[in-house]
Amino acid sequence: MRHLISPMDFSVEELDDLLALAKDIEDNPEKYAHACDGKKIATCFYEPSTRTRLSFEAAMLNLGGSVLGFSSADSSSAAKGESVSDTIRVISCYADICAMRHPKEGAPLVASQHATIPVINAGDGGHQHPTQTLTDLLTIKNLKGRLDHLTIGLCGDLKFGRTVHSLIRALVRYPGIRFILISPPELRLPSYIREGVLDQMGIPYEEVVRLEEAMSDLDILYMTRVQRERFFNEEDYIRMKDYYILNREKMALAPEDMLILHPLPRVNEISTEIDDDPRAVYFKQAQYGVYVRMALILTLLGIEV
Ligand code: CP
Repeated sequence: MRHLISPMDFSVEELDDLLALAKDIEDNPEKYAHACDGKKIATCFYEPSTRTRLSFEAAMLNLGGSVLGFSSADSSSAAKGESVSDTIRVISCYADICAMRHPKEGAPLVASQHATIPVINAGDGGHQHPTQTLTDLLTIKNLKGRLDHLTIGLCGDLKFGRTVHSLIRALVRYPGIRFILISPPELRLPSYIREGVLDQMGIPYEEVVRLEEAMSDLDILYMTRVQRERFFNEEDYIRMKDYYILNREKMALAPEDMLILHPLPRVNEISTEIDDDPRAVYFKQAQYGVYVRMALILTLLGIEV
C-alpha cells in the first residue's frame, strides 16, 4: 500500500508516468468513467478548502466512485478531542482511500502510519502540499512542454507557503532548473529549504525583493498569497498583504511566453485586469488539478485501465 505525503514519495520516473496518465485522462475521459465503480474516497479536511477538496471529490466522481467526508474540524469528532490516528483507523473501515488536510505539520504522515488505506496529504500546515505540486507540474509540462531547463520565479509568502516548499522539492530533480525567490525579507524561504535543499544540491538561485527586477528573466512566475491564517499577529499580516500586486504594468516587463501560475485562492496579489492575458493560466491550472488527482487515485489504488 502506498501513500502520498511528500512529492519525494514518487521517483521522477513515477511522476512522469503519473503526468502521462493525467494527460490520457484529459484526452480520453470516457475511458476512465467506470474505473473506480464501487470505490469511495474520504475527504477529511480539518482546514478550509475549495479546490483541493472539491477536485478530489470531482476526480472520484469522474472515475465512477463515491465520496464521503468532512470539510472542517468543527463538523467532525476532532471537536470532541478525537486524535488523527483514531480518526483514520475508523475512516479506513468506511473508505478505500483518504485525502487529508490538517493545520498541523505532519498530521497526514501520522494518519498514514495508522491507516489500512492509502492516505494523501492534501496540505499540512506550512509544510507541504504534494497534490498541488502534481497539479503545477502537469500545468508546466502541458503548457510549456518540459519540466527541465526553466527559470522559475516564486513570489510572495515563501516562508509559510507550503505549495512553494513542495514545488521546489519536486523541481530540483530535473536538470537546468534555476529559481528567483521574490519575497519581503520577513517572508524569505526558510533556511531548511534554502540551505538544506538548494545549496546542498547546488541549484542556482537568487533572492530579490522587487518583482520588477525578476520579470524579464522568467519562464514561469509562480505567485502566492500572503496567508493571513499563518500569521501570529494581524499587524504583520496587514503590513505584508499587498506587498506584491501583479498588474498590466508589471506584465509589460515579462517575456511573451512566460506563464503565470498561482495555486489559488488569490486575494490582491494578481489584479483581475490580467486574467484575460494568455500568459495567465491559473484557472487552467485548477482544471488540471482534477486530471492529476484522478491519475493519483488510480495509481494509489493500483487500478489499471
Ligand atoms: N490550492 C489550494 O490548495 O486551494 P484550496 O485551499 O482552495 O484547496
